[in-house]
Amino acid sequence: MKGKLEGKVAIITGAGQGVGKGIARCMAKAGARCVIADFNEKSGRQVAAELEELGSEALFVHCDVTQRASIDSAVTQSLKFFGRIDILVNNAQRAPLTPTAVMDHTDEIIDLCFETGFRGTFRFMQAAYPHLKASQGNVINIASGAGLDGLAGQAAYGAAKEAIRALSKSAAREWGRDGINVNIICPLANSPGVATLLERAPEMEKRMTAGQPLGRIGDCEEDIGPVAVFLASEDSRYVTGHTLPADGGSSMIR
Ligand SMILES: NC(=O)c1ccc[n+]([C@@H]2O[C@H](COP(=O)([O-])OP(=O)(O)OC[C@H]3O[C@@H](n4cnc5c(N)ncnc54)[C@H](O)[C@@H]3O)[C@@H](O)[C@H]2O)c1
Repeated sequence: MKGKLEGKVAIITGAGQGVGKGIARCMAKAGARCVIADFNEKSGRQVAAELEELGSEALFVHCDVTQRASIDSAVTQSLKFFGRIDILVNNAQRAPLTPTAVMDHTDEIIDLCFETGFRGTFRFMQAAYPHLKASQGNVINIASGAGLDGLAGQAAYGAAKEAIRALSKSAAREWGRDGINVNIICPLANSPGVATLLERAPEMEKRMTAGQPLGRIGDCEEDIGPVAVFLASEDSRYVTGHTLPADGGSSMIR
């Protein structure tokens, strides 16, 4: 994997912790220069510093993906610093911290899931498009088994993730001739977000791994990162519009 992303610049949203951080670390080890775009300044700066310690160039940009101006500014800052954008990973997402029944979903919960996930991804793709076209780049959007399988207690979150998949497939068709590949990862990994969910609803852990072939929750950097590197590299140049679950076999797409 070493060197597979040499010379490339990756923007990773929500990379201040968890899956985004794992992807950023793995991409940096593969030679990419990473932009850590997160609304949590402390953790985002910390991750950028960690990447520098790995010997990689990194930039933290404060970015709230619910605000178009904030996204535009993140893209401008990335270009100013690195001069190009090759990879966009739309990873930032918020969701209720406890499972919520369909009948208990409020407008606020629905908005939270769609603003951060679906609309944030849509806006970032629009803002980055001309630069990805110039670099013949890659988009990797993060969806979820909660959407693929329609998990109980996660209706708005799962729906936002399925909306991201629909957007990704349309963009893959529209942007293929521009040289931009758009793919989707559905991860399962031990992020701080998942740790909080399991603290509040321990019964979820069994549900996450019951019947799962590999029988464990993955590691953000070791299990999810390499899948993102693959989808950002030349190795996957003939793959677009595809959903790749990195979840120990929890979801098998037929
Ligand atoms: N961890 C899993 O098992 C799992 C499973 C399925 C899908 N996912 C998806 O993977 C992605 C990462 O999940 P995670 O578990 O690492 O989450 P997490 O909650 O641990 O981390 C999310 C990160 O996103 C940032 N963020 C949140 N809202 C933001 C905003 N408006 N603007 C900018 N940054 C924002 C947070 O500051 C944080 O750094 C999400 O899209 C999530 O839905 C994760």
